[in-house]
Amino acid sequence: MSVLDRIKEIDKEFEAEAGKDITAAGLDGMRVKFLGRKAELTGILRSVASLPADQKKDTGKAANMLQRKISERLEEMGKRLAEEKRRDRDEIDVTMPGIAASPGVPHPLTQVMDRINDIFVSMGFIIADGPEIETEFYNFEALNIPLDHPSRDAFDTFYIEGEHLLRSHTSNVQIHLMQNTRPPIQAIMPGRVYRPDAVDASHSFMFHQVEGLMVDKGIRFSDLKGTLSGFCGAMFGKDTKTRVRPHFFPFTEPSAEVDISCIICGGKGCRVCKSSGWLEIMGAGMVDPLVFEKVGYDAEKYTGFAFGMGVERIAMLLYGIEDIRFFYENDIRFLGQFK
Ligand code: PHE
Repeated sequence: MSVLDRIKEIDKEFEAEAGKDITAAGLDGMRVKFLGRKAELTGILRSVASLPADQKKDTGKAANMLQRKISERLEEMGKRLAEEKRRDRDEIDVTMPGIAASPGVPHPLTQVMDRINDIFVSMGFIIADGPEIETEFYNFEALNIPLDHPSRDAFDTFYIEGEHLLRSHTSNVQIHLMQNTRPPIQAIMPGRVYRPDAVDASHSFMFHQVEGLMVDKGIRFSDLKGTLSGFCGAMFGKDTKTRVRPHFFPFTEPSAEVDISCIICGGKGCRVCKSSGWLEIMGAGMVDPLVFEKVGYDAEKYTGFAFGMGVERIAMLLYGIEDIRFFYENDIRFLGQFK
């Protein structure tokens, strides 16, 4: 066999091997076999010089071309292998065991507040917001709570500096809202309030209220009763009964406390309702004309009602939570029960 024929054979051999699936190790093997120091083709190239003159040119050319072709092809194959390897690494292995996601839930107080908000929004109320750091004017004076009046004791307050204080109820937002808009007003105002109470199972220095305000021409006490019994039915169940008892607040006249039939015992009397069958749920009343005067509303033209409820108390009744401090400790064993 002539050397030229031998070169053609090597070419065929190479093609046969290159056509197969190959690993990185296999590729190295081919490189040694076809291009290495001891490779046949390398030997041929080395011996071209000693060939008879008439074969030298063609054989040399063929050997050189084959060597270049093999080297290019091997390089190409190497690149393809690297590319495949990269793609394999990026691919998601669906057989791998997953990492269980354990999604959190809104805080129980947030859940209860969201429900309260949703019910009032469904009745046409908008949600308003106001400052937690307040002046005496908004927290007291505009609400007809005079500076030196004993009714202020009911709203024991954290004072900050000068005139500033932490609001002791959300009623301050009523004043901002009335100052900033004209009737009709139909809004609820959820938020944090602060009172320097000693912390125990039913007291916290910070808690949440949802305030409500409706002002227009011809708003009557029956509108207040209808709105609140509608709310209580949606919040606590449609069989829940509502009643109003006379009470006193400086900013409403007449004032009332609103009770619902006990949601624990259904009204028969139990430990939670102290055998009365009723649970006090919020304060309410018709906006005092003196408050309208403070915000520049014509008390002859407009009437309105306001109410305020404690979110913690409602959440404790709904879920049977006996200690208010659970809400603020952020113990995952407690919070995890509200999924
Ligand atoms: N601000 C009162 C409180 O904190 C609740 C209230 C609001 C009462 C509106 C009447 C009208 O106790």
